[in-house]
Amino acid sequence: MFRFKTVSSLLFLIAAILVCCVFILHFLTPTYESFENIVHESNENVSGVHYLPSGGVHGSTANLLTPANESNQNVIESLIKCHDYSIPIEKYRSQSIVRGVIVRFPSFKSDYYFVQFRWFYRSWIESEMFTLDRWRTDIIILIDDKFPSSTRKLLENLDCHEKNQRTSRRQISRCILFNHKLFSQKSQSQRQLYLAKYPMLNPTNRLNVNIDRLFAIYDYITRNETNMYDLLMVTTMNTFLTTQFGKYIPIKCSFLIGTTPDYSTWYGKTDQINKFAHTLLSTLKQSGEGRKNITIDFSSAIEKLKSTFLFIERQVDVSCDSKITTYRTSVYHLKCYAHSTSLFSERMFREKAYDGYEKEPFNIYIAREYATLMALQSKVMTLDDLHSLAINVTRRGVFT
Ligand SMILES: *[C@@H]1O[C@H](CO)[C@@H](O)[C@H](O)[C@H]1NC(C)=O
Ligand SMILES: *[C@@H]1O[C@H](CO)[C@@H](O)[C@H](O)[C@H]1NC(C)=O
Ligand SMILES: *[C@@H]1O[C@H](CO)[C@@H](O)[C@H](O)[C@H]1NC(C)=O
Ligand SMILES: *[C@@H]1O[C@H](CO)[C@@H](O)[C@H](O)[C@H]1NC(C)=O
Ligand SMILES: *[C@@H]1O[C@H](CO)[C@@H](O)[C@H](O)[C@H]1NC(C)=O
Repeated sequence: MFRFKTVSSLLFLIAAILVCCVFILHFLTPTYESFENIVHESNENVSGVHYLPSGGVHGSTANLLTPANESNQNVIESLIKCHDYSIPIEKYRSQSIVRGVIVRFPSFKSDYYFVQFRWFYRSWIESEMFTLDRWRTDIIILIDDKFPSSTRKLLENLDCHEKNQRTSRRQISRCILFNHKLFSQKSQSQRQLYLAKYPMLNPTNRLNVNIDRLFAIYDYITRNETNMYDLLMVTTMNTFLTTQFGKYIPIKCSFLIGTTPDYSTWYGKTDQINKFAHTLLSTLKQSGEGRKNITIDFSSAIEKLKSTFLFIERQVDVSCDSKITTYRTSVYHLKCYAHSTSLFSERMFREKAYDGYEKEPFNIYIAREYATLMALQSKVMTLDDLHSLAINVTRRGVFT
């Protein structure tokens, strides 16, 4: 009996020491915060930074240049003149920054898209948890006249309203609906204005959905009111904002762009986004029989702007089934590609393959696990809970 007691108390002592060790290690482990300033100075490759080469873009990632070291990176960056070249990210972190993330919510298949919107919204909340006191990030949803009222009601449950338009920099992060008229529904005189500026848009040409999306974006960003945003991200809803997105903005002329061929995500300063959209419209390409189809020509637009923008790939639209870490790296945004069947797969998620796993200990710093957790939570939480969480997280002290 005595011996048993000794053994058990010895075990207890060992357990206690282990607990203490873990506790102490917990404090010794550098916190997330302390790594902030290495985000860009890091030599690590894990960040997956890829620069589009100055030798032209041919829709292929094969010829992208990976900077092997710091000096390499500087050589590339200094080719482009920036007025804010010497301002480090830390400086911006103490300033007021207002960002907008623009998505277009199509009017068809809206139940299908709402699933994506829920997880996108949930990831926005997560990025807000990691953001800075004086930063604001709005979700801006572009819809058109045919948008179903049932889906609009669902969005309104999440406090996404047309009347939420930002009127001051201080207002907390919000979700905004913006009604946009499709090109085909614009009046003759409005269309004439566009045709004068972008002759390629001859109305006899077929406008595909991507061009309508480009128009919606163009209309939104060329409004005067949009100047209130310092930076804009244009993206789709099958995406996730990461925790890093919360505390990072592109600096030194960098313009983050998704991957070929559709380049669906762009992230940069508002004037850059404006210029990019304008350049895309002015480089539209005719194709097909009778040259009736017009398509967006990203390569030409990038080629035209490469002397003023530092195009960077693979920091946005990182695949949501990637095992890449988002800790201490420059991964700001994940995107789900339809063909994937490995975690996180949108298809398997819709087939309920991940149901019941929302309580698993997912690691939010691994891209695929983060995506899974965000998607699952957005599914098991009611809209009211999602909204309540958004309120709790976006509420921040008023700054002066
Ligand atoms: C960076 O990644 C490239 C390929 O992705 C690899 O060839 C190179 O060795 C890596 N450099 C370092 C320092 O890890
Ligand atoms: C870094 O890149 C420069 C320019 O390409 C090269 O000259 C230098 O040897 C590289 N240094 C290291 C440590 O790889
Ligand atoms: C936008 O701003 C300019 C100058 O600040 C002004 O002349 C113009 O009327 C404004 N446009 C709208 C639509 O408010
Ligand atoms: C042009 O558009 C039509 C209808 O969208 C499509 O069927 C056709 O394949 C397109 N042609 C080319 C060459 O892209
Ligand atoms: C938000 O905060 C309130 C009050 O602190 C709390 O009751 C509620 O559960 C929170 N909501 C969520 C979704 O965490």
